[in-house]
Amino acid sequence: MKTIGICSLRGWRGVLGRNLFVFVAILFVASIVYLYIDFPLKLNSNVWQDELQSNNFKEPVQNFNGATPRFNKTSNDVLVFVHIQKTAGTTFEKFLVRYQENLPCKCMAHKKRCNCGRNSSNETWLFSRYSTGWVCGLHADFTELVVNSCVQRVLDKQAGYNKKRNYFYTTFLRNPTDRFISEFRHVQRGATWISSKHICDGKPASVNDLPTCFDPRIGWEGVSLEEFISCPYNLAFNRQTRMLANLSLVGCYEHLRKPSYEQDKIMIESAKQNLRNMAFFGIKERMDDSQFYFENTFDMKFSRKMSVWGKSKSNDTVLTDAQLAFIQNLNKLDWELYEYALQLFDERIEQVRRQQRMRA
Ligand SMILES: *[C@@H]1O[C@H](CO)[C@@H](O)[C@H](O)[C@H]1NC(C)=O
Ligand SMILES: *[C@@H]1O[C@H](CO)[C@@H](O)[C@H](O)[C@H]1NC(C)=O
Ligand SMILES: *[C@@H]1O[C@H](CO)[C@@H](O)[C@H](O)[C@H]1NC(C)=O
Ligand SMILES: *[C@@H]1O[C@H](CO)[C@@H](O)[C@H](O)[C@H]1NC(C)=O
Ligand SMILES: *[C@@H]1O[C@H](CO)[C@@H](O)[C@H](O)[C@H]1NC(C)=O
Repeated sequence: MKTIGICSLRGWRGVLGRNLFVFVAILFVASIVYLYIDFPLKLNSNVWQDELQSNNFKEPVQNFNGATPRFNKTSNDVLVFVHIQKTAGTTFEKFLVRYQENLPCKCMAHKKRCNCGRNSSNETWLFSRYSTGWVCGLHADFTELVVNSCVQRVLDKQAGYNKKRNYFYTTFLRNPTDRFISEFRHVQRGATWISSKHICDGKPASVNDLPTCFDPRIGWEGVSLEEFISCPYNLAFNRQTRMLANLSLVGCYEHLRKPSYEQDKIMIESAKQNLRNMAFFGIKERMDDSQFYFENTFDMKFSRKMSVWGKSKSNDTVLTDAQLAFIQNLNKLDWELYEYALQLFDERIEQVRRQQRMRA
């Protein structure tokens, strides 16, 4: 048994007991079938990797492993935050506009948004919820922001002319099981993100591409965990992988209706590659290290500690091992991505420390 924060779970044991057992049983059988069918493909996974490696970003992206240009406060550099739901992204965004003094944003009382324009040009150095707002759609993903060039388009429009900029992409990741449960709780409290457009291949996903798990007129408030995990189109599954992958590579949202090992593989490799190319990524479970990594990469300091902020307010409840295993299995792409990210994160921290020692 493991304790995980969950608020307002009603009739948890009663509703779930028997049905969950059936779910786990089905899942177990399904995993075995899946493993067998896919086994021969695993041998070919290098092929996918090679193909993906040759897919470069259309827009300039800083690769940390090369000679990293530092974020230039006075030029055309823009920090872009890819906000994946329930990963401490809001905390990070708040800190960027409110507790960061090297390139201060002008915030007005009782206004959510701040002006992060540079003094000289008034052109923003920060693309995020509290500066530009959700101009590329609510919680826009990598596909919307980068593949469909939304960031470039929107900033050009605001500037009034086309301009070359250097984009420094950033994001936050979180333990996938905790993130999933946190998203479930959030939806149970009434959030749906129904207005997200899911632009891919230049157009928004249709209801056919992306069936909803609930009646949009009613929402999904009060949903039980059982119902939440039994909708195959639930975007909460492997959300981190999907939001960081180039979905053009896998026919956009086809994988939700017709899951396949090949597409999973392409998606996870794409997400890993895009993560590697980010100028910074934080890990919710490693807030102090994330802050250290960020501050030293962008030459910005926060006046407070992110780790002290944003503690979960919810009540603890108990999930059985079976329930946890079930959720973990549903998010196995995210788990692969997360484990990869943790390793990469340690390397980056070590790299920053090394650079600091060299400068000292
Ligand atoms: C947590 O539990 C307390 C007492 O049982 C309750 O009053 C409160 O509303 C709960 N909080 C949430 C977020 O569910
Ligand atoms: C995304 O994938 C498409 C289809 O292969 C490709 O044309 C495009 O360059 C990719 N974009 C990025 C930013 O990786
Ligand atoms: C930043 O950009 C400005 C304008 O392009 C340039 O003059 C300056 O040298 C750059 N600073 C650094 C540290 O690269
Ligand atoms: C912009 O102007 C404000 C107020 O004059 C100043 O505090 C701030 O340091 C300036 N920012 C930059 C990047 O020059
Ligand atoms: C700077 O841009 C912001 C929007 O990003 C706008 O609200 C503000 O009025 C602009 N200020 C000036 C002086 O143009």
